[in-house]
Amino acid sequence: MNASIRARAAAEAPAFDVGDRLQAHVAALEKLAFGASAGGRPPAVAAAGAALKSLQRGLTGDRRLAGEGYFSKADYLKAYLLYYWPVSFVQATMALEELRSRGELPRIRAILDIGAGPGPASFAAMGAAADGVASATLVDWNAEALEAAARLAAIEAHAPNALTLVKRNLESDPRLEGGPYDLIVACHSANEFWKEGADSLERRASLFRQACGLLAEGGVLLVIEPSATVTCRPALALRDRLLAEGGLRCAGPCPGSFPCPIAAAGGERSCHSTWPWTPPPMVADLARAAGLDRDSAKATWFALKKASAGEAAGRTAASGAAEEAASPTLAGRVVSEPMLNKAGRVRYILCTPNGLATLSAKRDDPTAQESGFLALRRGDCLRASGLERREGENNFGIAPGTKLELTFRAPDAGGGDAPQPKPLASRKAP
Ligand SMILES: C[S@@+](CC[C@H](N)C(=O)[O-])C[C@H]1O[C@@H](n2cnc3c(N)ncnc32)[C@H](O)[C@@H]1O
Repeated sequence: MNASIRARAAAEAPAFDVGDRLQAHVAALEKLAFGASAGGRPPAVAAAGAALKSLQRGLTGDRRLAGEGYFSKADYLKAYLLYYWPVSFVQATMALEELRSRGELPRIRAILDIGAGPGPASFAAMGAAADGVASATLVDWNAEALEAAARLAAIEAHAPNALTLVKRNLESDPRLEGGPYDLIVACHSANEFWKEGADSLERRASLFRQACGLLAEGGVLLVIEPSATVTCRPALALRDRLLAEGGLRCAGPCPGSFPCPIAAAGGERSCHSTWPWTPPPMVADLARAAGLDRDSAKATWFALKKASAGEAAGRTAASGAAEEAASPTLAGRVVSEPMLNKAGRVRYILCTPNGLATLSAKRDDPTAQESGFLALRRGDCLRASGLERREGENNFGIAPGTKLELTFRAPDAGGGDAPQPKPLASRKAP
């Protein structure tokens, strides 16, 4: 029997264009950043591009600026509003959209945004609220960033009580208040808390444990971090730590609540989602001016929910499944790009309850071609049976009779026009 990828209708990601959501904010962001006195757009873009270059180095390169008061510098705030605000907005929107596709998105009315900056994650969450009516509490130690969020809300004529601003240094005063919250989000902020400390994992876990205590029934804690190894791996460690303490389950993007096999693998390995995305001209112009590539939004992220007693039992069952390693079946999430070796074999790395596994096939194998195996993308979840075992532990191959079922299709961020994934080529494992 031929292999087939059968997409479960309910699991197919609906066509979703994040550009429409972002577009609603672009004019207000430009107005806020450029103001009335910008002496023409091109010079303003060039100046913002130079500031962006320096900001990008300081946040994700040498990390000199992470955890510092960069939003108090007008040039950095401007560059952030024009470039990183949209990027964070898209990442948060796509993570929320993935949760929606999985049936895990709560009804969003009350939002807590930890390390909110000028608020892109809050605006994304308000945009994801079913009826568009939600209020957000933004916590940040930087007054200028919070003020920018408030001014943006005013330009967009949000209801006056839509945003509550809390200026607080969460390192010296790690109190989170209010609730219950349907969504608690920390977007690109966790890595800035206790950046240098040997006990940063403990302290972050304590802060986010506190956050989980403020979740409403069915509420979600969403942590989004830059995909770079230096920020990704601590995020994976934080996920594992919070799950190990019990009472929570992973609602996405992981295929289960089991400990992250990429974190366990050590080294430089990282895990992230890549959402193909065509940025609007403002972001594209800034990227060009700063010499940055921008054809997708990438982020490491995890979403946690309070586990019910039944779900806790499910977690045990998932661990039990790990013992069935002898059976040539596989269920998991694609956590790599397709990799092509010299022998013409295409290989993906999958995250499974049994640890990392590989699934491969010859590029010209008819079964692989017919099944859609070659169209798998990072972030897709699948179930496969009738596989052949390949040399080495946890390595599987497509064989005649293999059945593949796509249980979740990772959405892309661009409606029909987003750039397609780069052509298949030899790529290194993550
Ligand atoms: C990279 S920005 C992210 C902003 C926004 N959440 C986003 O996704 O674009 C990190 C934010 O964390 C805030 N932050 C860093 N350390 C903090 C601390 N100790 N207490 C409160 N906020 C902090 C910064 O002021 C900044 O707004």
